[in-house]
Amino acid sequence: MATVNTEKLSSARFAQATDVFVEEFTASVGFDRRMAQQDIRGSLAHAAMLNKIGILTDQELTDIQRGLAQISAEISRGEFVWSVKQEDVHMNIEARLTDLIGIAGKKLHTGRSRNDQVATDIRLYLRDEIHSILAQLHRLQLALLDKAEQEAETIMPGFTHLQVAQPVTFGHHLMAWFEMLARDKERFQDCLKRIDVMPLGSAALAGTSYPIDRFMTAELLGFTRPSNNSLDSVSDRDFAIEFAAAASLLMMHLSRCSEELVLWASAQFDFIDIPDAFCTGSSIMPQKKNPDVPELVRGKSGRVVGHLVALLMLMKSQPLAYNKDNQEDKEPLFDTADTVIHCLRAFADMVPHIEAKRDIMYLAAKRGFATATDLADYLVRKGMAFRDAHEVVGQAVRLGLTTNRDLAELSLDELRAFSDSISADVFDSLTLEGSVALRNHIGGTAPEQVKSAIAAARSVLTTPSL
Ligand code: ARG
Repeated sequence: MATVNTEKLSSARFAQATDVFVEEFTASVGFDRRMAQQDIRGSLAHAAMLNKIGILTDQELTDIQRGLAQISAEISRGEFVWSVKQEDVHMNIEARLTDLIGIAGKKLHTGRSRNDQVATDIRLYLRDEIHSILAQLHRLQLALLDKAEQEAETIMPGFTHLQVAQPVTFGHHLMAWFEMLARDKERFQDCLKRIDVMPLGSAALAGTSYPIDRFMTAELLGFTRPSNNSLDSVSDRDFAIEFAAAASLLMMHLSRCSEELVLWASAQFDFIDIPDAFCTGSSIMPQKKNPDVPELVRGKSGRVVGHLVALLMLMKSQPLAYNKDNQEDKEPLFDTADTVIHCLRAFADMVPHIEAKRDIMYLAAKRGFATATDLADYLVRKGMAFRDAHEVVGQAVRLGLTTNRDLAELSLDELRAFSDSISADVFDSLTLEGSVALRNHIGGTAPEQVKSAIAAARSVLTTPSL
């Protein structure tokens, strides 16, 4: 037998009080209170508009403003008493307002529904979170630029299939990460465009019979325009899914950077040192220093992608207009925003302290026949067809492997045995420095190009569109 809450009926419509468990089950205040400040901003704009069209007197508006200011302060100080009986953030604030100012508090909801209210709150909330994300992304990009500048001439092996492929500069590798993040930033900025639509006035689903001024409310809340269709705007959550998709792509990128950091910090690669502040030890193995920050970021990427899928499934097949299902959008969104901001922050804090072990990186590039393509390109420059050159170099690599030497360590005579097109100038191409310096075109790994890529990126970053 269900337990019934006898203290309070939900409204005059109900003959029976809500079951106590159902009350808790359907309440969202436990999590949507997170949007309290956005809810208050929305109410202030709505109240100002109601005053302008003559529904609230100047005195009522002043009372509402005073009451909401007090509520905002109570919430900020952690003194506000949240109640499950009031179901959600919207009803909690409205009930407290009525406690504080009386009848004017009861007038605030004129021409409004929680459906357009919550749709507005989420937009305001995501807009705020995206600005925080963009600020952290900016910090991380700056940190990468600084690090790339320090390492513009540092030679390391570049990999394909995780096998040594060709030498690259570490600065170039870091600038690849920078480019990934630049696209992520664009995606979040683009997402702001779809968020920039104001739902208030859509009321429950059909609009309202009051002579509301939706342009005024939009302007007060910093939105470019009111939404075009009331049914759509109380039910639309695409903008939230887009946010989760942008977040998922960003986290996918961070997981790739993390994976590389974890590999590079291992004793087997030993390319970098991650400072102690970003690592922890093992409770059993005293020698361990684990790269916890990148590992955790890699792990958290899965949970953000999970939220994207949860939101897509939440919206799939929902009929118009608002459905209670939508209450389930909050927790994935909040967790997505928190996770992304924390991961970006940890990365932005860590990157400046990553130490490149330049000698070890250099040796690793040397050991892996990383300049084999350069030898082939050299032969092409001497007139050989690329496929034939590929074959000749294969023979040279085999000799290097069997005699445990790098290509640059073979003698001129040994090399000439494979092709008499080879002369002493071949060694300019076989050194790692020569190899990277030759890739001197836009997007190439030559230190000169890396430095100009950094300079170009820096000038874009310092004129931010934040
Ligand atoms: N707590 C609800 C949500 O998060 C607010 C809107 C409720 N509207 C309704 N008609 N039950 O979606």
